[in-house]
Amino acid sequence: MPKSIADIRNHAAASLSTDKQQMLEQFLTPMEVAVQAVSLFSESTNPLNILDLGSGSGILSAVTAQHSPSGSTVTAIEQDKQLADLSEAAISQGTDKYEIINESVFDVSIDARFDRVILNPPYKKIKPTYISTDCGQIKVTNLYAAFLVTAIEALAPNGECVAIIPRSWMNGLYFSDLRHFLLEKTSIDAMAVYGSRREHFEDMGILQEIMLLKLSRKTQRKTVTVYQDVSAGTPLIKQDHHDFPIENLVFGKEKIVRIQQQDPRLNQFRTLSENGLWASTGKLVWFRNRDIISEKTTSYPLYWAANQKGLVTVHPVTGTRGQWVSADAENRPILQPAGSFVFVNRFTSKEQHRRIHATYLNNPGLFAADNKLNYIHAGTPRKTVPLQDAVARGLTVWLATTIVDDWYREVSGNTQVNATDLRQLPCPSQDQLAALANLINPTNETDQKTIDETVERFFSWTPRNK
Ligand SMILES: C[S@@+](CC[C@H](N)C(=O)[O-])C[C@H]1O[C@@H](n2cnc3c(N)ncnc32)[C@H](O)[C@@H]1O
Repeated sequence: MPKSIADIRNHAAASLSTDKQQMLEQFLTPMEVAVQAVSLFSESTNPLNILDLGSGSGILSAVTAQHSPSGSTVTAIEQDKQLADLSEAAISQGTDKYEIINESVFDVSIDARFDRVILNPPYKKIKPTYISTDCGQIKVTNLYAAFLVTAIEALAPNGECVAIIPRSWMNGLYFSDLRHFLLEKTSIDAMAVYGSRREHFEDMGILQEIMLLKLSRKTQRKTVTVYQDVSAGTPLIKQDHHDFPIENLVFGKEKIVRIQQQDPRLNQFRTLSENGLWASTGKLVWFRNRDIISEKTTSYPLYWAANQKGLVTVHPVTGTRGQWVSADAENRPILQPAGSFVFVNRFTSKEQHRRIHATYLNNPGLFAADNKLNYIHAGTPRKTVPLQDAVARGLTVWLATTIVDDWYREVSGNTQVNATDLRQLPCPSQDQLAALANLINPTNETDQKTIDETVERFFSWTPRNK
């Protein structure tokens, strides 16, 4: 008896060498996730041309072909010869019209003739690369973005694509080109988010949050079907889902895509940038400035994430990198003007309780900040302007609330806090922030409950869980 498509996948997964698996990111899709992905394609009565990019054991194209009318074709492209050879036994169970191309996706010329494109690509970061499309050059910094652009370019008019990818494309500057391209060229039809990839790819040991993204090559549908918390094993159609107008999911010039509906209490606020505030990253890259960083007191204070304590920025602190930069800093573009600012960490770990850690700073002279810190100011991308002191204090309190941290977690599937997302954060006006500063002073020790309750009272909110 021939092995089933699932058995072929499991056999392939078990036989991968660790080195090659890491190098080519061979994290093979389990059968139950493959079935859910394929279920997002529309039914068709006509034979279809199916393309699978980075096809591995062939599971995705084989299942797609099994659910397509007879006479459908499969083109599978896989760089690894061992997997390409192995995939024939799976793909031939879906159709007898197939071609397995053992090459890199980027070395194959692919015509825009496919009715169905399915992919679970490698997710690796790559150095910034530009892909030419008829919408211009798309900058990608990640292999999965490059695969997705290739997939979209391969679609025939009305063709459909389902991709199994991390949810990191939905926010952040690195994926801005991809989001613009995708929204210009396709309709986002459905998004289905898995809580954690570990659970669904358990024999592969992966941690990122992943999702299914269904696109079609036509003008954008009015509504997008969103499955917010998918578990494997149950058909998607039986899982909780809602249709949302596209304009409720895509935000700002950066086209950030957000699937969770924001807490309605935040709807009254404009974004941080609309309120005349700007988030930038610290200007000092330590390994380029090692020669001027000092542990002994010299010309200008240098702030790192380690200087963030409670709601304030403490200086100096011991047991970390040098706390000062010498006068040579004046000849480098790293010094920031005196005044009040809010620092926000750029990195957290999965275990950390909060994503956003904001601290108030009032520095009487010029200073430097490590680029692993974001800082919020009243200027522009090119010019740093200090905040009014009361605004800085009020903003620190605002960023310390639970409602803001929850908002950030929903926007971002990863542990980094990036300036692009911070600029989209709902934020009270500068006058409101200054008034809030009269109620809580970040320089006094305050607990989370007091912060949340003070902000609730200030905006006359009904507490959410009472
Ligand atoms: C995450 S795995 C998924 C495999 C398969 N699509 C699945 O869902 O089980 C990504 C696959 O892409 C292949 N791959 C990596 N880089 C590639 C490239 N440049 N061109 C073609 N295949 C590639 C890997 O060998 C691997 O089989």
